[in-house]
Amino acid sequence: MAGQKKTLLKVIILGDTEVGKTSLMQQFINGKFSQQYKATIGADFLPKDMIIDDKNITMQIWDTAGQERFQSLGVAFYRGSDCCVLVYDVTNLKSFENLTSWRDEFLIQANIKDPDNFPFIIIGNKIDLEEGKRLISTKKAQALSNSLGNLPYFETSAKESVNIDQAFEVVARCALKQEEIME
Ligand code: GTP
Ligand code: MG
Repeated sequence: MAGQKKTLLKVIILGDTEVGKTSLMQQFINGKFSQQYKATIGADFLPKDMIIDDKNITMQIWDTAGQERFQSLGVAFYRGSDCCVLVYDVTNLKSFENLTSWRDEFLIQANIKDPDNFPFIIIGNKIDLEEGKRLISTKKAQALSNSLGNLPYFETSAKESVNIDQAFEVVARCALKQEEIME
């Protein structure tokens, strides 16, 4: 709608290296997937325009480096986030175990005043990999999500584009709600 104000929402994607953070963002924004791994260096964002409940929003999605040596920008850009997406790889136990550290570090660095009510979303990625390779069951992930405050939980495949739009729609809704609370 002409003249209607567009809400800018900042979303940040965190998680261990190679869980598929960049791939999820690329699939969501460009509909593309690359099998080849290229480490993210520093952090970068891409914008995505969406309409949520008749509201025009631009979601600024920040893709970050999972490898510590590439976190060259520091973490100052965590500040001002409206939602944080925590990603693990369903075939990588360590990446699942590290979710709470990513969450805790985010809360500290972003200086979140009300940690219990900040919107996090959990994503278990790479569900296309064969069943035998999977190390974290849906039940186990659901239990963690519940224990961290009934966080929305999605299982995705960036490779086969499973559940990507659904997950990011919930991300957008949570971010919008958070932004409205903070206003
Ligand atoms: P860092 O930038 O180092 O933090 O890694 P990242 O989390 O951004 O991972 P990235 O998206 O670069 O993906 C790592 C590797 O996993 C790449 O080889 C991807 O092709 C592969 N990958 C990502 N998502 C999927 C998926 O859903 N299924 C499968 N089979 N492979 C995936
Ligand atoms: Mg990356």
